Amino acid sequence: MLLRLRTIKELDFPGKRVLVRVDFNVPLQGEQVTDDTRIRASLPTLAHLLHQQAKLVLMSHLGRPRGRPVDELRLDPVAQRSSQLLRRPVTKLNESVGPEVEKAVRSMKPGDVILLENLRFYPGEEANDPQFAQALARLGDVFVNDAFGTAHRAHASTYGVAQHLPSVAGLLLEREVQMLSKVLDSPARPYWAMVGGAKLSDKIDVLKDLLPRVDGFLIGGAVAFSFFKAQGLSVGKSIVDEKMIPEIQRFLQDAKTKGVQVVLPQDITIAPELKAYASHTFVAVPEIPWDKMGLDIGPKTIETFQQHVKRAKTLVWAGPLGAFETPPFGEGTFQVARAIAESPGVYAVIGGGDTASALNTAGIVAKNIYFSTGGGAALEFLGGRKLPPLEILRAEA
Ligand code: 3PG
Repeated sequence: MLLRLRTIKELDFPGKRVLVRVDFNVPLQGEQVTDDTRIRASLPTLAHLLHQQAKLVLMSHLGRPRGRPVDELRLDPVAQRSSQLLRRPVTKLNESVGPEVEKAVRSMKPGDVILLENLRFYPGEEANDPQFAQALARLGDVFVNDAFGTAHRAHASTYGVAQHLPSVAGLLLEREVQMLSKVLDSPARPYWAMVGGAKLSDKIDVLKDLLPRVDGFLIGGAVAFSFFKAQGLSVGKSIVDEKMIPEIQRFLQDAKTKGVQVVLPQDITIAPELKAYASHTFVAVPEIPWDKMGLDIGPKTIETFQQHVKRAKTLVWAGPLGAFETPPFGEGTFQVARAIAESPGVYAVIGGGDTASALNTAGIVAKNIYFSTGGGAALEFLGGRKLPPLEILRAEA
C-alpha cells in the first residue's frame, strides 16, 4: 500500500521548539566536511521551519562510535558547515541530553538553531532505550524526521522519540518516499539492480528482497569477489567476505530457480596493490593470480554492463563498480555511469554517498538519474521492507 506521510506542511511552528532528526552523517577530513550533500538536502525543511519562526533543535549521528564519545566524531565541523549554509549561527552543544542541554534549549529564541552532540555517543540511541528517547523528547514540542539516510534504523532519535511527541516528516523525507515509491510500486520494465561497493553484509538481505522484484542483477565492485569465491574461482588478493559465502550460494541458487539473471564481471582490472596509477592489467575472471587483487571491472564487462543498463527502463544502483577514488580504477564506474546518463529511456535511482560521490567526481548529472540520500535505507525501502521510522509517520488513510 502506498506510503503517505504526515508532513510539516500540516502544522504551524511559530515559537515552537522543533526537534529535527537530520542525517548529517557526512564524510570528514579532519575539521572539514568533504561532501555536504546531505546537509544541503535538509535545507528546504530547515528554511521552512525557520521561516515560521521555530526554535530548531537539530540532532544527528556521525559514524559508528558505538555508544561512547569519540573526539574525531564530534559534530563541530558539521555545525560550522550548517551555519555557513543556513547563514545564521548554529550553536553546537557538547551533549545530546541532560540538564545543561535543557537549559540551553530553554533560553532559545524564535529563529535560533542548536545542534546536539553526536547521538551515537550514547548507548541508548541505537538500543532505542525508552529513557533516552524521553530525554530527547523533553527538548521539543514537535518532532520532525528528515533523516531519510537513517530511515532503516529504529533508534531512539528516529523512532522512540516519535512515540512521545506529535511527529511529522520533513520535506526531504517526504520527497525521498515519493520518488522511491514510484519504483517500488510500478517500476517500468526491464528493472535491473546494479550492486557494487564493499559492504556485502549490509547488502545481501536486500539482494534477497529484490530477487522477486527485479529482472536481473549486475554485480561489480568488491562484492563481486565474494561471488567468485562462492563459485569456487580463485580471486588472488581481492577482498572477500568469507562469512557471506553460504548466503551468496543460496542467493545464486534462488536466482536460478526463479529465472532471474545474475551477471558477474567477465574480466577484471588487477594490480599488485591499491595504489594510484599502480601498474595494472586485465584478466578473465578465473585467472586472478595469487599475488594480484581485483580493483575494477574490465573493458569487456564495462561493455556488457553498458548494454544492460541501456536496455533497462528502471535501474537501482548502489555501490561503485571499482575502487573509483584511486585512479585509474574508476573507469568501470565512470563509463557505466556515462552510459546511464546518455540513455534517457532508463530511470536510475542511485543510493548511497559513495556512488553519488563517484558520479560527482566524473561530473555526471542527468535528468534521468535520481540521487537518494539513503544508501541502506533506499535499498531496504525498494526491497519492500516496512521501515518503522517511516511507518510511525504514516498518514491516516
Ligand atoms: C548511512 O550513511 O547510510 C546512514 O547515515 C546510516 O548510517 P549507519 O549505516 O551507520 O546506520
